Amino acid sequence: MLRRLHDEQPASFAFTAANQAWAEAQIAKYPEGRQASAIIPLLWRAQEQEGWLTQKAIETVADMLGMAYIRALEVATFYFMFQLRPVGSVAHVQVCGTLSCMICGGEELRAVCQEVIAPTPFTLSPDGKFSWEEVECLGACTNAPMVQIGKDFYEDLTADKLRDILGRLAAGEVPVPGPQNGRYAAEPRTGLTALTEHGNGRDPHNGSVARALELGDTIKRITGDEVPVLTSRRAAPSVTSTASGHKPPMLAAPKGGQGDDLKLLKGVGPALEKLLNDIGIWHFSQIAAWSADEVAWVDRNLGRFKDRASRDGWVAQAQTLAAGGTAGGAKGAS
Ligand code: FES
Repeated sequence: MLRRLHDEQPASFAFTAANQAWAEAQIAKYPEGRQASAIIPLLWRAQEQEGWLTQKAIETVADMLGMAYIRALEVATFYFMFQLRPVGSVAHVQVCGTLSCMICGGEELRAVCQEVIAPTPFTLSPDGKFSWEEVECLGACTNAPMVQIGKDFYEDLTADKLRDILGRLAAGEVPVPGPQNGRYAAEPRTGLTALTEHGNGRDPHNGSVARALELGDTIKRITGDEVPVLTSRRAAPSVTSTASGHKPPMLAAPKGGQGDDLKLLKGVGPALEKLLNDIGIWHFSQIAAWSADEVAWVDRNLGRFKDRASRDGWVAQAQTLAAGGTAGGAKGAS
């Protein structure tokens, strides 16, 4: 495919302050004289910020890296992941057009895009909210047919499901990504026959979907202010979260050097216990004393385990456990 810069270009480009700082940090990773190595992440960040890659953005990146414009243009026009023309303001839909998807209904998905968005790829919908293109295999063949929307995959699709997803995106929602036919991941459609528990047996979503829901950046433009969140995969939730509710008292370390076995609470496994410890929760007595406001704060600061405190009634369980009793969902529960 011939890849050219778009006919209409904005007069200027500038990274947001946060993206500029992020870009400079990327450049600093490379030894003197090798700054050009940062071109792909910088072009990608420019696209994440603007939605597409403008000529001014390419030239700005080239200037930052001390490259001739033609060298940066070579990279931008070579890789199909770079969008060289405006895409939908809400979402750009990438429909997989390779074998597995095509024999499982990919053509019907493409037809939905043609009907709902625009008859031809890379054309904006009448309201400017959507665009689409056909792409090569996206590596999710077991869940064919599928599309990529923004940063996430929507798999096991039908024409009706895709139509519904586009409608919900247009209404301001972001549908849950991943398999759309009830599959957890890429297990047989007829169900598991061995190792029949998914993951740790508790999470309703596979790891990729859970992470996507945690980040919530499926179709977001990136200004750079999200960076601390997006890069802190293993970090404890921020105690200055904007979440509603009231932060309960936390402990820097367990009393007496030994925390309670929080896994005795229903639905708490090693990962969630570690997360609770990381934010300063070590003892049943702490949880037992939470008010409704404090439960709300905890619920909203549990990352991918969001809402577990209220859903599983931790306060009542903790009151029983703190008094020496046994909680209903004791250790070993799913
Ligand atoms: S053929 Fe569509 S994801 Fe591989």
